[in-house]
Amino acid sequence: MIGDEGDAEASTGLGGRARWRARAAEIEAQGLRRRLRAQVPVDATRALIAGEDRVYDVFSSNDYLGLAAHPEVEAAMASGGAGAARLIAGNRRGHDALEAQLSEWLGRPATLFGSGYLANLAVFTALYGEGDMIASDAYNHASIIDGLRLSRCARRVVTHGASELPDEATAVVVEGLYSMDGDVPPFDRLQSALRGRTLVVDEAHALGCLGPEGRGVAAGEGVTPDIVVGTLGKAFGAAGAFVVGPPEVREILISSARPFIYTTALPEGVALAASVGVRLATAERRERLAANTARLRAGLQDLGIDALGVAHIVPIVTGARTMALAGELLEAGFLVGAVRYPTVARGSERLRITLSAEHSNEQIDRLLTAVSSACTKTDDVAFDTSARRDV
Ligand SMILES: Cc1ncc(COP(=O)(O)O)c(C=O)c1O
Repeated sequence: MIGDEGDAEASTGLGGRARWRARAAEIEAQGLRRRLRAQVPVDATRALIAGEDRVYDVFSSNDYLGLAAHPEVEAAMASGGAGAARLIAGNRRGHDALEAQLSEWLGRPATLFGSGYLANLAVFTALYGEGDMIASDAYNHASIIDGLRLSRCARRVVTHGASELPDEATAVVVEGLYSMDGDVPPFDRLQSALRGRTLVVDEAHALGCLGPEGRGVAAGEGVTPDIVVGTLGKAFGAAGAFVVGPPEVREILISSARPFIYTTALPEGVALAASVGVRLATAERRERLAANTARLRAGLQDLGIDALGVAHIVPIVTGARTMALAGELLEAGFLVGAVRYPTVARGSERLRITLSAEHSNEQIDRLLTAVSSACTKTDDVAFDTSARRDV
C-alpha cells in the first residue's frame, strides 16, 4: 500500500525507508518542504486552485506573452505523441517543421530537446569535457550547473555579472535574462573579454520577449553567441527547448548528445503547439509586455519598494519574511512566486513577480496595492546580496 507506515522490514538497514523518513523530516525541519498545488487556468492570467472556488490573478507564470492559453496553441497541442526517440521511430514532420522555423528565425540550425534542462545537459556534455575550463556566472540556472558537472569539465564560478574571465577558461556561460534576478549580463564587456573562447547563452527567459524580433538579449546587444539555448515552455506557451549554433553543433548533438538520443521525442502535438507559439510571438505582444513591465516597475518605485532587474521578471528581496508575504498576497488573491534556498542564497529569499502581455492595467494596479499593504506590515529585512548560491 502506498504511504504504508508499518513496513518494518523495509525501514531497517542503511538502505531502507528509515533513511528516507529521516531525510524527509530533515527537509521539513529546515523549512524546505515544498508542496504542489494544482492550478486550473481560467484564462491567460487567472487561475483557480483546485478544490477552491476562488479565482486568483497569476503573477508567477513564465507564460510571458500569454500564449499558453491561446486557442490555436491549445488546439495544436491536441495532436499526437512521438512514441520513441527521434533517432528510432519518433521523428515527426512537426519536429522537422519546428526546427526549420526556429532556424529561419534565428539564422542558424536549431535542434530540439524535450526540455531546457535536457538542452543544457546536452550542450555541456556533448560540446565540452575534460580539458575544458568553463567560466560560469554564479547565478546560472541549475540545469547549467548540472550540465557542467556531468560534462567533467573544470568549472570556475565567476561573480554574477563579472566580465573578467579566468585565463585558462575555454568557454563562458551566462543567461540572457537571469531567471531569479531579472537582470542581464554585460554583453559588450564579455564580448571583448572572449578572445577566442566560446560563449554559451541560455536565453530561456528572453527569447520571444526581448531583443530584435524577440531574438534575445545578446542579439539586442549585437552579440552572436556561439551557442544559444532557448525554451518553448515559457514565452511560447508550449514545452520543450532547442539549441542553436553552427551546423557542426547540430551534427554533434544529434549523433552524440545523450539527452537527445536516449529519450522519447517531444510529443508532436507539443512541437506543433510550440510552432504556433513562435508564430504568435509578435512585436505587438512584446510591446504590451514591455508596457506592463514599465507600469509595475514604476509603481513599485513610487511605493519605495526596490525591485531587482530590468525586465518582465520582477524580484523583490524579502528575506526570511518571503513565505509569509507570499501567503498574504495569496490571501489578497494573487499568486506570486516565493523563491527560497537552494534556488537563491539563504538570506536573499524573494518574491518573484512575473508579468504577462495579457495582464491588464487594473490587475497590475491591484497587485501594487496588495504588495504595498503586505510589505508595509513587514519589518525591514537585512539580507546579504553577495551570498552565494548552491553552485
Ligand atoms: C535559465 C533556464 N534555463 C533552463 C531552464 C529549464 O527549462 P525547462 O523548464 O524547459 O526545462 C530554466 C527553467 O526555468 C531556466 O530558467
